[in-house]
Formats: sequence, C-alpha cells, structure tokens
Amino acid sequence: MTAKPVNHSRTTLTELMIPSYANFGGRVHGGILLSLMDKVAYACAAKHAGHYCVTVSVDGVNFRQPVEVGELVSLMASVNYVGRTSLVVGIKVVAENVTTSVMKHTNTSYFTMVAKGENDQPIEVPPLLLENPDDVRRFLEAMKRKELRTSFATYFDNAKTQMLLDESMDKLANERCVVGL
Ligand SMILES: CC(C)(COP(=O)(O)OP(=O)(O)OC[C@H]1O[C@@H](n2cnc3c(N)ncnc32)[C@H](O)[C@@H]1OP(=O)(O)O)[C@@H](O)C(=O)NCCC(=O)NCCS
Repeated sequence: MTAKPVNHSRTTLTELMIPSYANFGGRVHGGILLSLMDKVAYACAAKHAGHYCVTVSVDGVNFRQPVEVGELVSLMASVNYVGRTSLVVGIKVVAENVTTSVMKHTNTSYFTMVAKGENDQPIEVPPLLLENPDDVRRFLEAMKRKELRTSFATYFDNAKTQMLLDESMDKLANERCVVGL
C-alpha cells in the first residue's frame, strides 16, 4: 500500500455558533462541539483510509474555555497516527470572536477511528507519510498515548479487583458523600 501524506487528509470545518446551539447558561453546548469534532474526524479519517470509518474512542476532551454564541468555531483535523485498521485524528478547536478577531484555543482532542470494508469488517489503511518534524512528533505522541491508555486500563482493572468494599470505606471519610448503607 502506498503511504499517504498527512496533508492529503488535513481537514478544517468552520461553523458559526447560532443561538439554537446554546445551553441554559447561554453558552454553546459541549455536545454541539463533540458532534462537530466527530464530523471532522470522520471526514479526515475517511479521506486517508479511502473507506467509511467509525469512531471507536475519544481522548483528551477537556474544554479549557467556554464557547460563546456568535463565535466562529474552526476545527482543524489531521491524521496523527495509523495502525493496521485504525487511525488517530488529532483535532484542534479554536473559537474566534468575529467582531474583534480574538481567537481562543478551546481544546485539542484525539479521535480513534477504524476503517470498515464492504462486509463491515475492519480494513487495512494506507501507511502515513511523515514529511516534517511535527508529523513525526505527533505520530510518536500518539504511540505514547496508546501505550499509556493500555497500561492504564490494565492497572485500573487490577485496582478494581482489589477494591474490596469493606476495606475501602475509610477512603470515603474525607469525601463529600454520605454513605446510606
Ligand atoms: C471498533 C470495532 C470495529 C473493533 O472491532 P474488532 O472486531 O474488535 O476489531 P479489532 O480487534 O481488529 O480492532 C480493530 C482496530 O480497532 C482498534 N480498537 C479497537 N477497540 C479500540 C479502542 N477501544 N480504542 C482504540 N482502538 C481500538 C484496534 O486496536 C484495531 O486497531 P489496528 O487494526 O490499527 O491495530 C468494533 O468494535 C465496532 O464496530 N465498534 C462500533 C463502532 C461504532 O459504531 N462507532 C460509532 C458509535 S455510534
């Protein structure tokens, strides 16, 4: 399979935040942003894969600043990493106040997508051509994130099996909860 460069699938989605996107506090719903992120991740992944793709997992969704109605949100997506059938799409989200041109970086998140063939089974994706130091850095960071996520899952599964209710009650002493057992 021929490697495809990161630039082949780089995608930007820009949308104006209209009043119907607001939550009860008058700011933009987090779910609106998640939906936009999922759309741009799909477009970027499908361009690289040359196939339909599905979202498998999402890392690093921390909204650092609220997005206001009236702001112009841009989501810049690029493939950071490819496995055999999976791809990691990094998405940087910025919001611009259109009257002042002030930009703010609201979050950067990583969507893992899997390419699917006609039989709905995962299908191999082209390798990624890394053409500059940023491409290489992002690929290496995605490898590290994957490794840490796997070790966290194993560590947490072990921790859960050792978390016996009777022996863990004292950990709740300084927490803001009331045990009503
Ligand atoms: C994702 C899915 C295709 C995996 O199917 P599977 O039969 O377990 O396939 P595999 O084990 O071969 O995994 C396929 C790839 O997904 C990756 N993967 C699977 N689960 C993952 C997870 N939780 N996080 C990250 N990657 C994951 C595997 O590492 C593998 O990547 P690789 O080929 O690059 O090494 C399947 O679980 C699925 O279709 N899920 C539903 C996805 C969906 O519908 N999303 C939209 C939600 S509405």
